[in-house]
Amino acid sequence: METNQKDILILAIESSCDETAASVVKNGREVLSNVISSQIALHTLYGGVVPEIASRKHIEKINQVIEEALKEAKVTLQDITAIAVTYGPGLVGALLVGVSAAKAISFATGIPLIGVHHIEGHISANFIENKELEPPFICLVASGGHSHLVVVKDYGEYEIIGRTRDDAAGEAFDKVARAIGLGYPGGPKIDKLSKEGNPDAIHFPRAVVQENEYDFSFSGLKSAALNYLNGCQMKGEPVNNADVAASFQKAVIDVLVDHSLAAVKNYGFDKFAIAGGVASNSSLRAAFEERCNKEGIKFYHPSPIFCTDNAAMIGVAGYYEYLKGVRSGYDLNAVPNLRLGER
Ligand code: KG4
Ligand code: ZN
Repeated sequence: METNQKDILILAIESSCDETAASVVKNGREVLSNVISSQIALHTLYGGVVPEIASRKHIEKINQVIEEALKEAKVTLQDITAIAVTYGPGLVGALLVGVSAAKAISFATGIPLIGVHHIEGHISANFIENKELEPPFICLVASGGHSHLVVVKDYGEYEIIGRTRDDAAGEAFDKVARAIGLGYPGGPKIDKLSKEGNPDAIHFPRAVVQENEYDFSFSGLKSAALNYLNGCQMKGEPVNNADVAASFQKAVIDVLVDHSLAAVKNYGFDKFAIAGGVASNSSLRAAFEERCNKEGIKFYHPSPIFCTDNAAMIGVAGYYEYLKGVRSGYDLNAVPNLRLGER
């Protein structure tokens, strides 16, 4: 790889849930490698992520994934400026594997260590393919564990203005998918099946949270979908799974789009970005594209591979933390419920 002395190369490590991932990122926005070892096939057997199995699998894979990331980037540890690692939020046992690996490499080589917030990583994924994107902007983070509306004030400076009161958007996708027999992870499967269904076939509720117009609530929608399925079963009526998937998905998207666009307008921004696993949903992307176009808002989104968990996004976030002078000590620990903007 063409690198010179002034280049800042970040080796990034991510192991917060069910992907063991490592990446090398050059000067914050150029991804030299992005290696992801997914455990999805393993957890599918159990219908969801089994934390103990995730930790064990991370231990098996982590060194191999890091070596591959360096090899693919055509660099060695001697070229690396800093090591960025996700230290929260996530599953504690899973996080610990990445954090321990990063600390061990840092200790052995003297390369500085930087702990990165997983959600900061998701947001930063937008910088990879949108070279012109700079803060401030509003970002919707919708993943398996989070549904946040965030004002990105500057690199590494965030204000959460909306959050879910109960289930995360991805969690609702996964639960409804399980109920119609699609298996784990449900998001991509509902995305696919919806294309064969009618989004207006069943009317599911769009929850409004009275106290904060930017907050979300998906548990009522999830229950409505489950009740609908139970009702059909009790009455002996056939269920059109594609219609359920499409109608449920439309209800989630309507709420995400309405709340996000209200925030962008009220805060007076002209830039909006999406992030997290749910951001790879094709109908969601199309809906945002259309509404943003109509309202003269520039819409940014990462490619699907940078929406779901990966280490490149951690490398980008780590780069901006590095520039700000953030360094972590060898006492860096996994923090399962780490808040955005906290250290
Ligand atoms: O960001 P992510 O990979 O991991 C977390 O940090 O949680 O998000 C995973 C979530 C899962 O709930 C998965 O079902 C959902 O993202 N997801 C999707 C799609 N792809 C992944 N949801 C809807 N449509 C998709 N295409
Ligand atoms: Zn994630």
